[in-house]
Amino acid sequence: MSVVHRPRRLRQNNEFRQLVKENVLTLSDLVQPIFIEEGIIERAPIKELPGIYRIPEALLCEEIESLYGVGIRCVMPFGISHNKDSLGSDTLSDNGLLARMIRIIKECRSDMLVIPDICFCEYTTHGHCGVVVEGKVDNDKTVENLVKQSLVAAQAGADMLAPSSMMDGQVGAIRHALDKSGYSEVAILSHAVKFSSAFYGPFRSAVDCKLEGDRLGYQADNANGRQAMIEARLDEEQGADILMVKPSMPYLDVVSQLRNRTDLPLAIYQVAGEYAAIKFGSLAGALDEKETVMEVMTGFKRAGADIIVSYYAHQIAQWLSERN
Ligand code: PBG
Ligand code: ZN
Repeated sequence: MSVVHRPRRLRQNNEFRQLVKENVLTLSDLVQPIFIEEGIIERAPIKELPGIYRIPEALLCEEIESLYGVGIRCVMPFGISHNKDSLGSDTLSDNGLLARMIRIIKECRSDMLVIPDICFCEYTTHGHCGVVVEGKVDNDKTVENLVKQSLVAAQAGADMLAPSSMMDGQVGAIRHALDKSGYSEVAILSHAVKFSSAFYGPFRSAVDCKLEGDRLGYQADNANGRQAMIEARLDEEQGADILMVKPSMPYLDVVSQLRNRTDLPLAIYQVAGEYAAIKFGSLAGALDEKETVMEVMTGFKRAGADIIVSYYAHQIAQWLSERN
């Protein structure tokens, strides 16, 4: 007996395949994270992340222009501080690195959306994401400082804030303070579910984070899918505009489950170690870089992500333009 169902019918040529394609990555889905180091004069390569550089402040506008030129309209700046202390107080100053990089980007291209990471680990000597009291990160004291940092970032011109320290109540406290201070238009991209992950390794080298200990006391346990749903629901209740899952590739089940539970836009963050894995695999000749990256990105869309934060954003934008 001959087969009745022939799914291959819809794959017989490119026209059929395009017609029934369910998910397509577009340029406007992409967010580029960028590293800005104070006190340097030349772009400095990051050895764990080939192709990614620490950008001096003086060359930040040039970097923004180059991203703008390939169609990127959304960046997430991370500072590399030379002014660390136990609180990360540089981020609370209008003249600190965080405020300066936001201002430089907005002055360079006012229609480039700026989404700063809101956290302390890049600015603290101990490398933790908040105020350490008796060896532990104190939740409520950290939230108080996150609120202050958020107001500094909003004042500097940030379009959306991405609090990433995984403190309980951070989204609600920031939302409340923004609204009270005349920043009701500033959005919140919540790191709703940020899992504790080995894939952050190269990021910590990139930002000179000398973490003592680990973040298991605040970042989500990567074994827990249901707990991830609780984290996301709490952030939605507290006023998050967009929910994000981070890292990306091992957590597509979480994205997919969230897609069925919330009507908010969903973002996914392909973190430094995930970039490094593909990059080094490609450099070693084991993977076709472009095919691999596009397959992974399509997987993010299929899982339900609307927005993709990736160190590959710039490169993908170039690939997409070559295709047309
Ligand atoms: C910390 C922070 C991390 C990343 C961005 N902000 C993770 C961490 O150090 O625990 C990771 C980003 C990446 O790996 O690309 N708030
Ligand atoms: Zn942090």
